[in-house]
Amino acid sequence: MSKKETLDQETRNARSSGGSGIELSAREFEMFRSYIYEKSGINLHDGKRELVRTRLGSRLRALDLATYRDYFEYVRDDRSEQELVNMLDAISTNLTSFFREINHFTFLEQKVIPELLRRREKGEREIRAWSAGCSSGEEPYSIAFLLATRMPDGAANDIKILATDLSTRALGKAAKGVYSEEQVKTVPPDMRKQWLTTVVDEYGDKRSQVAPAIRKIVKFNRFNLMTPRFPFRRTFSFIFCRNVMIYFDKPTQETLVNKYYDVLAKGGYLFIGHSESLTGVKHGFRYVQPTIYQKPA
Ligand SMILES: C[S@@+](CC[C@H](N)C(=O)[O-])C[C@H]1O[C@@H](n2cnc3c(N)ncnc32)[C@H](O)[C@@H]1O
Repeated sequence: MSKKETLDQETRNARSSGGSGIELSAREFEMFRSYIYEKSGINLHDGKRELVRTRLGSRLRALDLATYRDYFEYVRDDRSEQELVNMLDAISTNLTSFFREINHFTFLEQKVIPELLRRREKGEREIRAWSAGCSSGEEPYSIAFLLATRMPDGAANDIKILATDLSTRALGKAAKGVYSEEQVKTVPPDMRKQWLTTVVDEYGDKRSQVAPAIRKIVKFNRFNLMTPRFPFRRTFSFIFCRNVMIYFDKPTQETLVNKYYDVLAKGGYLFIGHSESLTGVKHGFRYVQPTIYQKPA
């Protein structure tokens, strides 16, 4: 073997053991895959073995465990489920941004807000929305910014946005409502001016914090979308569940979409991510336009 071939082989070996020297066997991967599916609905295909190995590798190191099997047993036997929370935190992808997929916000502004205002005139004051899979908060805050800015004075008191996620790490960030200057660049200037204040973090860097008036509107909770029955007593005017179902298989998507149907008000809307579709999913929604569905009135 030439020197170069030897080096290439070494690189491949180092990659396959992730530098930590711990291998994730096919059998161990299968154990995690079915456990993660059972607990979160997240469907990890074969190509995700490396992702599982590296992301869970940090948990092995934190707990000083020698093998992935040891870690699997540790998670499974932890009655407090704290390590399950940590494991799902490590596995989930929390990528998000303010006003991501802008046409949903245009639709809210042009179509949904006028409808809500008409209902308001008839005495239906409360506006309830749900950001399901809210990650670090950019999505529900964007909804709150838009509603609070584009609805008449006083309406903000009647807006309630429930924002839920599985990841405690993401929710911790969301509840603080502090973002970098780069992250808030996609917030329209009028809303940035009205709802974001400048703070200085512990490193002396300038950051933007969501104003208390908006933080009052958005309520963050840890909630697993796999919960068999949603425990909400009152219905929602609209639900955002974007870039979440992409991790679920079709049967899981179908169950979830039908649970959303049940907790939406008549005429309420469901927004899904742009790379998602309900093709092959049985549901009672009316198709409005790609990625937007309405429960018939
Ligand atoms: C890629 S982020 C999407 C964030 C935001 N909705 C957006 O589109 O920008 C997906 C989120 O779904 C959450 N998630 C995945 N499975 C979940 C489950 N079973 N219950 C609740 N949240 C889940 C993840 O923790 C993650 O924060």
